[in-house]
Amino acid sequence: MKSPTKPSNQNITVQSDKYQHQLLASDTYKDTLGEQTLKKFFHKPINYTYLYVDAWLNFAFGTKNNPLYHLGSLAFFLLWIVLISGLYVFVLFDTSITGAYQSVESMTEQWYLAGVMRSLHRYASDAVILVILLHIIREFSLDRYRGFRWFSWFTGVPSLWMMILLGITGYWLVWDQLAQYVAIGSSQLLDALPIFSSSMTRNFLVGNLSDRFFTLMALIHLLGLPVMLVFGLWIHVKRLTKVEIVVPRGLAIGTFLALVVLSLLKPAVSHEQANLAIVPYELNLDWFYLNVYPLLDYWTAGETWIVTIGITLLLMLMPWIPIKRTPPAAKVNLDHCNGCAQCFDDCPFDAISMQARTDGARWKREAVVNPDLCASCGICVGSCPYSNPFRHADKKLTTGIDMPEFPVAEIRSATHTALATLKGPVKILVFGCNHSADVTDADASEIATIKLACTGMIPPSFIDYVMKKGADGVFVSGCRCGDCYYRFGNRWMEKRVRAERVPHLHKKVDRQRVYLGGAAETDKAKLLREIAAFRNMLLADKQPAEKTKKEANDE
Ligand code: HEM
Ligand code: SF4
Ligand code: SF4
Repeated sequence: MKSPTKPSNQNITVQSDKYQHQLLASDTYKDTLGEQTLKKFFHKPINYTYLYVDAWLNFAFGTKNNPLYHLGSLAFFLLWIVLISGLYVFVLFDTSITGAYQSVESMTEQWYLAGVMRSLHRYASDAVILVILLHIIREFSLDRYRGFRWFSWFTGVPSLWMMILLGITGYWLVWDQLAQYVAIGSSQLLDALPIFSSSMTRNFLVGNLSDRFFTLMALIHLLGLPVMLVFGLWIHVKRLTKVEIVVPRGLAIGTFLALVVLSLLKPAVSHEQANLAIVPYELNLDWFYLNVYPLLDYWTAGETWIVTIGITLLLMLMPWIPIKRTPPAAKVNLDHCNGCAQCFDDCPFDAISMQARTDGARWKREAVVNPDLCASCGICVGSCPYSNPFRHADKKLTTGIDMPEFPVAEIRSATHTALATLKGPVKILVFGCNHSADVTDADASEIATIKLACTGMIPPSFIDYVMKKGADGVFVSGCRCGDCYYRFGNRWMEKRVRAERVPHLHKKVDRQRVYLGGAAETDKAKLLREIAAFRNMLLADKQPAEKTKKEANDE
């Protein structure tokens, strides 16, 4: 078997033009030619566009309510609106083929309530598809769909299809001329499948659509597909922990109000009533849901199926084009595991379980890593109480859970090397991560940098440690707030420093001398500005103290 290439920048000290910085703990293997092409021509251009738009949205709504950071939960919120408005509409809806159209028309006439509910149902459904498309493109451009993330991507595609089928069956139920177009197009498509014996299209064309069939369609729309969608979404997020399905309040209120205003300004309306004796000549197609039907004007139903299935399969197989390699999974060292479950609680990818002790130690449980689920983010290393660098000062640091290719002992020795290179009136150690702005650009005589897989990998005791070893300040620069590549890295780090989540940063550490920043690849200038401002603040703080000390000595 061919062994994978070693990570490109793992555990090496690089001599840059002027300064020495540490490139530690890479979580990425050297890109193959295929990956370089994918990233250069596809991921980067889209990602940079997102990052610029993100920055504007952060400015306008704050990181907390930035819709692009909550596309998954926003889709869930819109589905709630679809469900509630759908239930209201269903109560007034006549499920017979003769009464359906008139019942929908009566709702539309009551513009202030039933009409608004109908419009909300339609516009929220459209918004779901728009949000899912943005969600897909975003995960793609951030490369959050390959490797260990294949499962969420792969299982997302059937959910998208179920959503589209929900929309199609919904349009069918109005039984206007658009519904007629959809019904005939769908029948042509179904006829092309070898599973249906009699020709459905012929039944439509001779006006044989029975009440029973129409009621069946209503049942599929109201019960069958929603149940399947809920099941599909449950599978979709199964490999993630603490899934955000509740959208922040500000974003929820804003989205809801926008939909209500749209519903009042431009109420959803029907076409003329369906009439199988005529061919509708002017239709307002909903391109979010009905985009497949116009293809039937150019291709046969069989060809349309081939294209649709081809696109679906391509989408499902994308996580393996090309394959992304993940470094070895986290490893538990039972000699230093007391079963506290903090790593289990912090792991973003459900890769750790707590199981009955197997080594006869006095603790009840032990942490067990499932290598198939592990993202090698290292966040669990930052959680473990044994990752404390003050331990075993004269020996190799060993902890309860560690990364085989970038162990915590090496982070500690990297901090020693980094601190030894610092010269000048203030000494700053910068910790950065592999998925945000490159902190090594900040290297200077007073500033040493260490890059890790994720800033969530840094045990807070390291901040205390490097300050005790001579650093005046510690600057941590991860992904932008709310947008961690590993979901929770920067969030856990912030909570640990604020002493809101264990392991806490020791209460005696001066928080003024710790800076938690977040900078994407496009925020390099901002990062350098923030580091410079932090340095100046530390210098200003230090000088009066040194002056007083000198004056006291002189006296
Ligand atoms: C109704 C449709 C969908 C909903 C409601 C939905 C919702 C979500 C939610 C809530 C998350 C977790 C976000 C978090 O807490 O970090 C998620 C993750 C994800 N979704 Fe979807 N999703 C949908 C469809 C899709 C589709 C169609 C795809 C791609 C084909 C997709 C790809 C992904 C991926 C790759 C992740 C993993 C992100 C990560 O690991 O950080 N989703 N989705
Ligand atoms: S955090 Fe460390 S001590 Fe606690 S369960 Fe995990 S490995 Fe064991
Ligand atoms: S490295 Fe990351 S994904 Fe793997 S067990 Fe630790 S926290 Fe979970």
